[in-house]
This record gives sequence, C-alpha cells and structure tokens, in this order.
Amino acid sequence: MPRIFVARMIPERGLKILWDALGKQSVIVYEYDQIIPRGDLLAGVRKADALLPILTDTIDAAVMDAAGPQLKIIANYAVGYNNIDVAAATARRIPVTNTPGVLTETTADLTWALLLATARRLSESERLLRASKWSGWGPMMFLGMDVHGKTLGIFGMGRIGVAVARRAIGFKMRVLYTSLTRLESGLERELNAAPVDKATLLAESDIVSIHCPLSAETRHAFGAAEFKAMKKTACLINTSRGPVVDEEALADALKSGEIFAAGLDVYEDEPKVHPKLLHCDNAVLIPHLGSASHETRSRMAEIAATNIVARLNGEPPPNCVNPEVL
Ligand code: DGY
Repeated sequence: MPRIFVARMIPERGLKILWDALGKQSVIVYEYDQIIPRGDLLAGVRKADALLPILTDTIDAAVMDAAGPQLKIIANYAVGYNNIDVAAATARRIPVTNTPGVLTETTADLTWALLLATARRLSESERLLRASKWSGWGPMMFLGMDVHGKTLGIFGMGRIGVAVARRAIGFKMRVLYTSLTRLESGLERELNAAPVDKATLLAESDIVSIHCPLSAETRHAFGAAEFKAMKKTACLINTSRGPVVDEEALADALKSGEIFAAGLDVYEDEPKVHPKLLHCDNAVLIPHLGSASHETRSRMAEIAATNIVARLNGEPPPNCVNPEVL
C-alpha cells in the first residue's frame, strides 16, 4: 500500500481523488490546521511514496532524505515552487509538480481588488470608520488616486500578468510590461500593452504590479533605487512572492513619500510582516489570499492529487517542473 503524506488539510475534492485511486488508508493528512512544524514534517514524510506540501513548507534535501528512496513525487499545492529545492529533487530523480493555470484568473481578480483598495485608500478609511471617527463627508477626505486612464506597469508578463492586463482594458489603461519573452503582437494590441525596460516601467507607470516568479534574479528586484525611480504618486502592488520586494526599503519609501502607496499580498518572511510596514497607513496588507476562492483552492487540490495518482500509476504527472527526471 502506498503512503501519501499531505502536509496540510486541503479541500476534500483532492483527497477524494487520492482515496478513490489509492485507498483511504494510504492518505495521511497532517491533522492540525496550522503550518506543519519541521519535526512533524520530517516524521510525517518517513517512508512516503508521495508528498503533498503547501507553499509554506520548505522541502529541501533533508526532507527528501527523511522520506527515503521510495519517494516518487513532490506535488506542491501552489503554482509557485520556490519552497522546494528542485535541484535536490532532480538529483534524486524525484519529479516536482505544481498547479499552474487554475489560479490565474483568481489571482488577477485579487490583484485588482488590492490595486483598487490601495489607490482609493479603502483599508485606511475603513479603519477610521470602524473606530467611530468618521465625522461626515468632506471635500478633502481620503483623496486617493484615479485608476482609470492611467498607466499600469506589469513586472513579469506571464499568465497572471496577462490576466491582470486584460482587466485593465475596462479601465482604459495603457499597459507597459517587462518580460523575458515578448507577447505576440495581436495580444499586445488587444491589451494596449508595450514592452519596455525596467527603468521605463518604473519612470512611467502610475501603478506597478509585480507578477514574476521568485528567483535569484528577482529577489529584491524592488528596493530603495527602484522606489526612487518611481513616480511619487505611484502605487506598488505585489501578489507574486514577498522576497521580490525589500520590505524595509518599501516601508521607508512609503513613510518618506517616495511613492504614494503599496498593496501587498505576500511578504519576505511569511507569516511575519515587517513591523515598519504595519505602521504605514498607506500600505494595504492582506495575508496571501491570491488564490483563496472556494473554486480555485478545490481545483488546486484536484491538480495536486491528479499529479500524484498519475505518478504512482507509472504515468508522467501532467504538471512536472523538472521533466528531465521522468
Ligand atoms: C501560488 O500558488 O503560488 C499562490 O501564491 C497561492 O496563492
């Protein structure tokens, strides 16, 4: 009987796929609804044929070795897989899978919610209202920034970047983007989007939205120099990965008025948030909710489970990020 270790409770749709294909007894789910402590992860993974971790679990060589040589797949419950040492998995010939595609639109929706909340100061004004400090409508009260008709800069024009840009059409925005690969010209026209270098993106955008994966190249891609290069009226939005932004430098830029505001869904050292950011009224801070809809989280569970079932049945898992091991 195979052993599948699921490091956090996931929507039942995914578990059902595993139960039906591999037997209920094969599936061991970490029983507490919290990030699994390292010791429990190392113990839980022992003798596992498959591991289903979430993005907060660091899956390094030690975890793989704690599992043992029978470990056949690491099926991450996320599209990002920077929590997994893919090189270590590849060296051990373990396929790593992710959940691409299904969370694109949901993350783009959330990005827009954050973008609008940031530009129009929704969190700050709601805090005042809830504190019973609202003394009535005022001509100068909580003036924010218009979004419609402005320039949106997308840093990283992958699937999610494109979905965010598509929503900007309704706001009659001009889109600038940086990307490793250029969009095809028909799509550029449809999105009113132009490829630019990073310096132009920073200098000309009213809102900069980050959608790149985390890598050695993108770590701290946004720091003091970048905030200085942005418009003083600009907003920064990050729904990708926290370490792309230097939080200390961002908090300083928000305090000094180097930029107008920021909306963050992700943080450098989750679940910790830089204490200086917590004191910035012009920061909208939400707890990594990009893919958090009932539908999408269920689809992610389904995809992670499907990858495991395929692999344990001797088939190539559909969403392998290191296919050279297959
Ligand atoms: C992912 O899947 O990488 C997302 O960050 C989850 O919200």
